[in-house]
Amino acid sequence: MQERDSHHNWPRGAAVIGAGTMGLGVAECFAAAGIRVILTDATPELTRGAKGRLLHRARGHADAGLLAESAVVMVEAVETADDVAGTVGDVGLVFEAVPEDIGLKQEILGACSAAAPRDAVIVSNTSSLPINDLSEFVGRPGRFCGMHWFNPPEWTPGVEVIPAAATAPEVVGRLVEFLRAIGKRPAVVGDGPGFVANRIQNALFLEAVRCVEEGLASPQEVDEVVRSCFGFRLPFFGPFQISDMAGLDVYENVLDVLKEGLGERFEAPESLRKLVEEGRTGTKSGAGFLQYTEEEQERLLIERDRRYAALNALLEDLPPVDAGFGDGP
Ligand SMILES: NC(=O)c1ccc[n+]([C@@H]2O[C@H](COP(=O)([O-])OP(=O)(O)OC[C@H]3O[C@@H](n4cnc5c(N)ncnc54)[C@H](O)[C@@H]3O)[C@@H](O)[C@H]2O)c1
Repeated sequence: MQERDSHHNWPRGAAVIGAGTMGLGVAECFAAAGIRVILTDATPELTRGAKGRLLHRARGHADAGLLAESAVVMVEAVETADDVAGTVGDVGLVFEAVPEDIGLKQEILGACSAAAPRDAVIVSNTSSLPINDLSEFVGRPGRFCGMHWFNPPEWTPGVEVIPAAATAPEVVGRLVEFLRAIGKRPAVVGDGPGFVANRIQNALFLEAVRCVEEGLASPQEVDEVVRSCFGFRLPFFGPFQISDMAGLDVYENVLDVLKEGLGERFEAPESLRKLVEEGRTGTKSGAGFLQYTEEEQERLLIERDRRYAALNALLEDLPPVDAGFGDGP
């Protein structure tokens, strides 16, 4: 978590609507970054309980050495209000994190846009509802955008920023700059089902379940393979850098075999076949999905090895969490 006035003075105040798993974590992040935060939940009683849980959470982080005492003081200063109007009236950013129910989101986003200052930016943390549909519930939707955080919000750096068709480009730019300033790693993505992260995560999950259902491996063994084989690379490289390093011709051949055994869902994409046909087979040819200068080709490999060695050292100290691997009760 980035602490203390890292947000370049925008927003001076943020409203968090829905103080559950995500809302509380985001409120803690905002407060730790020095932003004035106002929180509300479904009822005044729930809001009071939420403030208590927020303090407990920040105290736990501080006791574990993960959060400075000065940030706990900022969390203690988080305000609460009894309803949406009382929460959003004087803020620059409204963060909506109520449950994933389109009727409820309609009600809350409508109330937010009626009561928030005209220039306040309103974002929704929805994981799956189309941002374009939600934008219709917001008056002057140029100020509305998707902002999809991941659990736990305090520690997961990635945030998807999902503009609606109506979102003003200036708003997207401001949100990206703000997220970077508080230590997050935003990516602007399109408004397709599951956006990008949930689409890819669920494709992985479905194949993992299929491997177990087909008797190839136990859940524990699948988790070990994902974590320790290709998943080991993922903190540093995404699928495009990884496939470029492996060789796109190799990927094409492997996909052809997978398709034969597992069907159409493993058909090699047109864009991959075209790159291989053009000789753009990845880092070894200087270009694949991405372009590499000669200097980058060399640096990539040594930087990769440095990071993998460092990750192996970290894993010695912090091995995978040993839970759920026994025979159970
Ligand atoms: N949990 C996750 O891992 C996760 C990750 C990314 C995105 N999201 C999305 O974030 C949103 C919130 O998810 P969550 O997991 O925090 O849910 P949650 O159930 O933990 O929290 C939702 C909170 O909203 C409150 N609420 C209900 N009605 C309200 C109202 N009328 N006014 C104000 N508050 C109200 C609830 O009391 C609850 O405290 C959802 O859209 C979800 O899809 C969740």
